[in-house]
Amino acid sequence: MVDWDGFDSHTYVNQNYGRRILQEDLQIMRFVMDELRDLAVIPESLRLAADIGAGPNLYPALLLAPYLHGKGTLEFVEHSAANLAYLRDALERGDGATLAVWAKFERLMRESGHRTSLRRVRDAAVVKAGSIFDLPVSHYDAVMCFFVAESITTDPAVFTTALDSLLRSLKPGGLFVTAHMVGSTGYQASPEAPEYPACSMSMADIEKSYIPYGPFRSTLTRHTPEQALRSGYDGMAALVGRRD
Ligand SMILES: C[S@@+](CC[C@H](N)C(=O)[O-])C[C@H]1O[C@@H](n2cnc3c(N)ncnc32)[C@H](O)[C@@H]1O
Repeated sequence: MVDWDGFDSHTYVNQNYGRRILQEDLQIMRFVMDELRDLAVIPESLRLAADIGAGPNLYPALLLAPYLHGKGTLEFVEHSAANLAYLRDALERGDGATLAVWAKFERLMRESGHRTSLRRVRDAAVVKAGSIFDLPVSHYDAVMCFFVAESITTDPAVFTTALDSLLRSLKPGGLFVTAHMVGSTGYQASPEAPEYPACSMSMADIEKSYIPYGPFRSTLTRHTPEQALRSGYDGMAALVGRRD
């Protein structure tokens, strides 16, 4: 049983997002920005969106922010007390040191013509305790879920249950933006931290899992050994699509 409440959010951020923008995150961000444009999602149209298992990662929210309605809500649904505290510090209290990491992601997206801002994310944010396994059905206009369904279990059947719950939480026509580690054998938030589980999925396995839910486009990131986040994974899958 994983102690998600003891997750070391700041160390995780530092390793994954804080020191630099990883090449693979850059590839995901470019793919998602292009796909949202190609899908002709109307700016400022989404009333209710959610990032499920958001953890301490604000870049998915920055990707979606231009599409949120001026009075729209973006729920950050998290299972871990540590990550809920991180999100509240960043989004509700606007803690400068916590937000500083995300300013470089904001800048990079804006330089690519993506009209996003941390201010917009904070205005729409509602931080909520919850689980991917317990989401309301046909509820959201858009969901994001980055590195969750394959990163909370070793069991492919649990991955499938989590993904089903996630995609059924969308209204018909609702938008999904997701990312998964491909071929992952697990990870640690810090050298002293517990080993977190991973369900090793191939790109083909992941794409096959989405087929019943609606049309999507996908990409698999590439890395050189020097660019890799860590050992023990084959790349990152990103998917953008709409629920039937
Ligand atoms: C690998 S981390 C990914 C975090 C973040 N989305 C990112 O992109 O870096 C997995 C996340 O899933 C969360 N999590 C674990 N069990 C969950 C559940 N049942 N429902 C929702 N989130 C869960 C963890 O707290 C953690 O934030």
